[in-house]
Amino acid sequence: MQTYLDVFSHLPTLLTSRLTLRPVRMSDAEDMYEYSRDPEVARHVLWDAHTSIHQTRNYIRYLIRQYRNAAPGTFAIALRDSGKVIGTIGFMWLQMDNRSAEVGYSLGRRYWNQGYMTEALQAIVEFGFTRLNLNRIEAQHECDNPASGRVMLKAGMQREGTLRQRIFNKGRFVDVDLYAIVRSDVMRRP
Ligand SMILES: CC(C)(COP(=O)(O)OP(=O)(O)OC[C@H]1O[C@@H](n2cnc3c(N)ncnc32)[C@H](O)[C@@H]1OP(=O)(O)O)[C@@H](O)C(=O)NCCC(=O)NCCS
Repeated sequence: MQTYLDVFSHLPTLLTSRLTLRPVRMSDAEDMYEYSRDPEVARHVLWDAHTSIHQTRNYIRYLIRQYRNAAPGTFAIALRDSGKVIGTIGFMWLQMDNRSAEVGYSLGRRYWNQGYMTEALQAIVEFGFTRLNLNRIEAQHECDNPASGRVMLKAGMQREGTLRQRIFNKGRFVDVDLYAIVRSDVMRRP
């Protein structure tokens, strides 16, 4: 069986009905800058809205380095019909001792509320259990970003509680809701 290092160093392409999840490449910079510059997209994530495409390119360089280092990786979310990159989804961290990991994601504003991130998260959860052999997959969202909680629920995660003032983001301490799905929620065999 492949180890998670093998998987992350050769991140595969995953297909859903409307999306392609694949490794990010430098030629995605324009598409990614288009939404990364939007303060509404950046409001509830840990990065600031990009002010130039150079920042997006630097971020892509970082992601490509992650692939080279076989570190927990991030996928570009591209529309299957046009190839346009509309967001990203990936692993924030992974602990093989506990076979657990956390997922994070963001999507361009014009694509919100069409079920895209739910579709992407479902594919990543399946990937986590089958290809990475994880036992627990977590995600968390700022409490005043309830749309993200809906995505987690629709992808089969359960809400485990609120972590008060868990993070300091954009000048304020923020409460976050923690969600997770465990292997026994979806699979018969451990
Ligand atoms: C949060 C985000 C990922 C959601 O992606 P999406 O593709 O729009 O999600 P989906 O369409 O799959 O589902 C969105 C759900 O939230 C619901 N929703 C939208 N706005 C809402 C709000 N203000 N309050 C409650 N629910 C809301 C939608 O109705 C939908 O639920 P439904 O299918 O039950 O009707 C997207 O808005 C985004 O990228 N935001 C910016 C970055 C971000 O916040 N990332 C997450 C950090 S934790």
